[in-house]
Amino acid sequence: MSSHDRDLAQAFDKQAPRFERAPAQTDPAALARLVAFAAFSPGASVLDAGCGPGLVAEAFLEAGHAVHGVDLSEEMVRRARARCGRFGGRARFERGSVLELAAGSFDAALSRFVLHHVPDPEAFVAAQVSRVRSGGAVLLCDHTTDPAPAAAAWHQELERGRDRTHTRNLTAGELVDLLGRAGLERLAATEEPFDLDFDEWFDRGSPNLPKEEVRRRVLGGSARGFAPVLRADGGVTLRCWRALIRGVKP
Ligand SMILES: C[S@@+](CC[C@H](N)C(=O)[O-])C[C@H]1O[C@@H](n2cnc3c(N)ncnc32)[C@H](O)[C@@H]1O
Repeated sequence: MSSHDRDLAQAFDKQAPRFERAPAQTDPAALARLVAFAAFSPGASVLDAGCGPGLVAEAFLEAGHAVHGVDLSEEMVRRARARCGRFGGRARFERGSVLELAAGSFDAALSRFVLHHVPDPEAFVAAQVSRVRSGGAVLLCDHTTDPAPAAAAWHQELERGRDRTHTRNLTAGELVDLLGRAGLERLAATEEPFDLDFDEWFDRGSPNLPKEEVRRRVLGGSARGFAPVLRADGGVTLRCWRALIRGVKP
């Protein structure tokens, strides 16, 4: 395991309890839209790359699919197994890297909110595409950044200040191109707004910078995908965008 992956595993072992309850991750309407947009074939076998505590897996299992989840974090895998135990043999979870998975063939693959943690997005997507059968679908969901480089750089500094495992958010266009470069066809994309509460977001991170400094810097700028709003109660809402991109393996 690389030192980045070891650090990720440790950070997410610690973050797991808060992550599993976070409003942006648990929102049932957003999970339902993810399942609908994926449009996987009925009863598909699905690779969930970076499955976390199994929130996404659970939504796809409820929709009738079989899910194989993989995650670097032992605690995340433990939670995913507990959450999805009621689905019996349709739900399987293993600890490890998506990049080191044994060969296998799935009808579909997906990842949600993982790409901005990986050092090599192309390798991460390629690992999923290589394990999907011809005609199968790959779904990528992640929060996005501003196409303007200066705004994206400001956003990235704050994400890294709040979480040392953060690598880079891509723009919605870069996410589409990533799946195109991976050889996928019939690309479809949509984006959805979502809000984060600054305190809730910061407190479940693995910070590099003090909270007060990040808050001050957040209020000093704005980016598409990360726009702060100071509320009347003194709290800060971050207005964000997430993209859902789907492609088919020829
Ligand atoms: C922000 S969480 C998202 C969890 C889940 N996909 C969700 O949306 O609820 C990111 C997860 O990706 C995992 N992860 C990151 N890189 C990975 C890799 N190369 N292989 C397996 N898991 C990875 C982390 O351990 C972490 O649990």
